[in-house]
Amino acid sequence: MDILVLGGGGREHALVRSLAASPDSGSIYVAPGNGGSAPGAQNVVLDILDAAAVCRFAQEQAVGLVVIGPEAPLVGGVADIVRAAGIAVFGPGAAGARLEGSKHFAKDLMCKYDIPTAAYAVFTSEELALDYLEDHPAPIVIKANGLAAGKGVTVAQSDEEARCAVRECFAGRFGQAGAKVVIEENLVGPECSLLAFVDGQTMMPMVPAQDHKRALAGDRGPNTGGMGVYSPVPIVSRAEHDAMIKLMEQTVAALQSEGIDYRGVLYGGFILTDQGPRVLEFNARFGDPETQVVLPLLQSDLLEVMLAVGNGDLKQDVLRWSDQWAISVVLASAGYPGTYQTGQPISGIEAAEALPNVTVFHAGTRRDSGGRLLTDGGRVLNVTALANSFEEARAQAYRAVDLIDFPGKQYRLDIGQRALGGRVAWNQNTTGDQGEAKQGEANGAQSRHSNFQFDDLVPATL
Ligand code: AMP
Ligand code: GLY
Repeated sequence: MDILVLGGGGREHALVRSLAASPDSGSIYVAPGNGGSAPGAQNVVLDILDAAAVCRFAQEQAVGLVVIGPEAPLVGGVADIVRAAGIAVFGPGAAGARLEGSKHFAKDLMCKYDIPTAAYAVFTSEELALDYLEDHPAPIVIKANGLAAGKGVTVAQSDEEARCAVRECFAGRFGQAGAKVVIEENLVGPECSLLAFVDGQTMMPMVPAQDHKRALAGDRGPNTGGMGVYSPVPIVSRAEHDAMIKLMEQTVAALQSEGIDYRGVLYGGFILTDQGPRVLEFNARFGDPETQVVLPLLQSDLLEVMLAVGNGDLKQDVLRWSDQWAISVVLASAGYPGTYQTGQPISGIEAAEALPNVTVFHAGTRRDSGGRLLTDGGRVLNVTALANSFEEARAQAYRAVDLIDFPGKQYRLDIGQRALGGRVAWNQNTTGDQGEAKQGEANGAQSRHSNFQFDDLVPATL
């Protein structure tokens, strides 16, 4: 079967590589793609926000499945148009993608269906938002309502920072996405992403993953699209894992009650508070870079799973997972997430991939007319390693990172480091005085880390 994948990041390269491994995949068209490759895959020029053009291309090439990677075409309703033309689509329509495209919509849905999340208020007036801040001191969270490429959230540590974030939103920093502002209670705890395949009715969770959003080591610096990730997550307790799955099930039931036929990935972004997991956000797609660790752990045929999702036919026993650990380190251009240079020559990928169990996914890369690989974005490469222990996966990923070079290469040296210290390390860093209260749990997490049985933790997928 021929496939069209929309998008051009590390997530899409991971999707394409997994799809290419399916015995049933034929040509894979990637729009726009990047400098990465896979057997049978070719980049095509196509405006992925133009639903009619996407649909025409899919019909002309007789593709059997369209996979939508990024949020913008999902929110723009590309899935609806392609699906209406009778082509299987992996990705929700515009109604479902509102979960990501409108934080207001997502918060109201959670509120209506008793899905625990941070307390919130929504404003379309700068004056009223600033008034609200008078009674709600920092730390407090300010969010542009719409899509802002992962940059629309400020966790304000001071009242002035909060006011500034509100003013920036209403001044148009995020365009229309900031015309409405959500102000949220600041929640505290480690974060965890749980992605699930949803076929409209059935929800099948993937392995949990943990992203590192901040640009600099020690979780400092500005938020980014994600600087590194690992899966599964050793600090998540069994109870927390079960609670997250329950919240995802509740969300799928809520979507059904609202008459929304959701087919694709539902991405739950959770924060593990002392009162249990709370939803920070939903995304309507695979996470980036979460996909770059989750898919390498998936042993099932991704094409088969995606077709089942697109056709509303997901069977309970379709997902099989490796019991290994995966970690991925993002190599970024100097200056990211601010301004950065592109067009820098990249070397060493072959040597890195020659190491056992290492895969280098391309994100912001391109090839020049002579086939030379150049940087072409903020996040350039995702270096993923798999191993039987968390420590070995981490060591192998950094060995591979050392073999790759380009001018301005920057990356975090501490991906996964805090997880190695168990829950105490998290709480010491994020909540100060609560570290001691978590001692017992941290010991549990550490022993589970060495004896981790994935079958035991994720019964719903087996
Ligand atoms: P979002 O795009 O909504 O996931 O927000 C980006 C990041 O901001 C999250 O990954 C969290 O680190 C942080 N964040 C968002 N909402 C909250 C909240 N209510 N409390 C604390 N941190 C938050
Ligand atoms: N890694 C965060 C996201 O995909 O939104």
